[in-house]
Amino acid sequence: RIAYVNGDFIPLVDAKISVLDRGFLFADGVYEVTAVIDGKLVDNAAHLARLERSLGEIEMGHPVPLETLTALQLELARRNSLNEGGIYLQVTRGAAERDFSYPKDAKPSLVMFTQTRNLVADPRAETGVAVVTTPDLRWKRRDIKSVSMIAQTIAKQEAAKVGAAEAIMVEDGVVTEGSSSTAWLIKDGKLITRQLSNSVLPGVTRLSVMALCAEQGLEVEERTYTVDELQQADEVFITAATTLVMPVVKVDERVMSNGAPGPIASRLRQLYIEMAK
Ligand code: PDD
Repeated sequence: RIAYVNGDFIPLVDAKISVLDRGFLFADGVYEVTAVIDGKLVDNAAHLARLERSLGEIEMGHPVPLETLTALQLELARRNSLNEGGIYLQVTRGAAERDFSYPKDAKPSLVMFTQTRNLVADPRAETGVAVVTTPDLRWKRRDIKSVSMIAQTIAKQEAAKVGAAEAIMVEDGVVTEGSSSTAWLIKDGKLITRQLSNSVLPGVTRLSVMALCAEQGLEVEERTYTVDELQQADEVFITAATTLVMPVVKVDERVMSNGAPGPIASRLRQLYIEMAK
């Protein structure tokens, strides 16, 4: 496998970053994951727009001009013969003497690698996945796609322990989002997902699915909802770059949509894949 590190395409095993890099010491960095389907980048313009916003929110410079990023991503995909999977891209503030405030002279680091995965023929989409609910332990700027993810790894591990695919995080009695996905419910034909704010990541897949819903004449309501409402829904699904649209068939102990992927979630998954191809 080939990785990209600060200007060089090199074998992943040789890819290295300084222990003084602030991404390593302070999780002082941001990232994006772009799906690749049939060798094409999915929704990449929106991912790069969000990267730009994340960088701006933490006053971090650009390691390379943003316009050149797509070419680098495509070159990395080519060098890895990546037909389907994901491209991980991370920008950190770079190496500097350890000090909390931003260093004046650090040069941002850009690291990228690819992961080959079956996104379209994901067997989990056939059966649907189980999710568990868990307290949202994160910081208060979840709109920034920060690499600081201890809370998400704790949540995901809780899910993994009981064989669930995702942890749905809950704060003040309402759902925020999945540990690495946007959470949705469908009730009486209407889709509901949380409104954007500092409490959730503005999901790129979320935005695309909203556009598909508009095309299909499906109503989407953006608002908060409780775990109880989630469990009383007709259908539940999650969205994320490499998960696409994934039907949920169990929320904690409660079986959803008779234990099989719901019709609207399945249709949206199909439409999203067609759009991506
Ligand atoms: N995670 N919410 C959180 C907390 C996420 O980490 C993600 C994505 C999403 C969905 O965003 P998008 O549709 O733009 O991928 C929502 C990525 C895929 C990851 O960390 O691997």
